[in-house]
Amino acid sequence: QTEISRVRNLERIQMGNYEIEPWYFSPYPAEFADADMVYICEFCLSYYGNHTQFVRHRHKCTLLHPPGNEIYRDENVSFFEIDGRRQRTWCRNLCLLSKLFLDHKTLYYDVDPFLFYCMTVRSEHGHHLVGYFSKEKESAEGYNVACILTLPQHQRKGYGKLLIQFSYELSKIEGKLGSPEKPLSDLGLLGYRAYWQEVIVDLLVDREAEGTPILSIEDIGQALAMTTNDVLHTLQTLNMLRYQSKNHVIVLTDAAVEQRDKQKEKERLKGGRRVIEGERLAGWKPPV
Ligand code: COA
Ligand code: NA
Repeated sequence: QTEISRVRNLERIQMGNYEIEPWYFSPYPAEFADADMVYICEFCLSYYGNHTQFVRHRHKCTLLHPPGNEIYRDENVSFFEIDGRRQRTWCRNLCLLSKLFLDHKTLYYDVDPFLFYCMTVRSEHGHHLVGYFSKEKESAEGYNVACILTLPQHQRKGYGKLLIQFSYELSKIEGKLGSPEKPLSDLGLLGYRAYWQEVIVDLLVDREAEGTPILSIEDIGQALAMTTNDVLHTLQTLNMLRYQSKNHVIVLTDAAVEQRDKQKEKERLKGGRRVIEGERLAGWKPPV
């Protein structure tokens, strides 16, 4: 617990083609605090304070993707499912790395109760890690995400939304309503709010166009695998809830539709929105 308040200990890390400045403390070996650069193997995530040792490692390392099953693949990204118990070292390395960008407590050693869903992009050199989320194998609170991270070199490109969408696609297949573990970080909250607003407005617009408008908060939750609470809060934020004779009435406002249209235009200019194609997960079954 004392680790949480400790100051940032690593100066700089190198990973693949990127050099990154860590944001927070992470319990890497104490002597790494003196290194100018910590070298992280982008495939096995092992770490070196010395360049020669790192180069030696890279000649030997044969890993070209995260050590699990590829459960999803489209033109842009793949997802690998990794069991913390079966790939303890790799998952601990992942937690160490991600703690550099997470302010609050994470588990570094007890990875056994978690599954890790790792998103990669392909090149001729292999599957490069872009981000991931962890998920408890059994969550008493019904959380569908424990930790979520887009590596800083890949942030603000829509990958966070893809990770979030993926977590909900898994919940849909499980037939459950999911929600991320609380408390969320500031960035986590921004990412989730943006995702929730988009998918809810899109759903309402689609249903209205189809002539089958959605009437209840529960319907929205069912369609998107979101908890009633998260739907309710999002609708309140969007100012789309009215009360009539003590009942909630959902009103798709012009303001919300306009805001979403502007956003779509922005996405279009950036080359189109990235989405997870749920059909590509058809073969997936929840492990355990
Ligand atoms: N400032 C303002 N809004 C931000 C933001 C920032 N720095 N980062 C994300 N957002 C909001 C925006 O609305 C953004 O949409 P836009 O780019 O169209 O405006 C939306 O979130 C989604 O952005 P996206 O590019 O899909 O997310 P990302 O790949 O940057 O990942 C996180 C989002 C939360 C995963 C990422 O910030 C992260 O890894 N943070 C560090 C770890 C963390 O705090 N995780 C949550 C722990 S609970
Ligand atoms: Na953390």
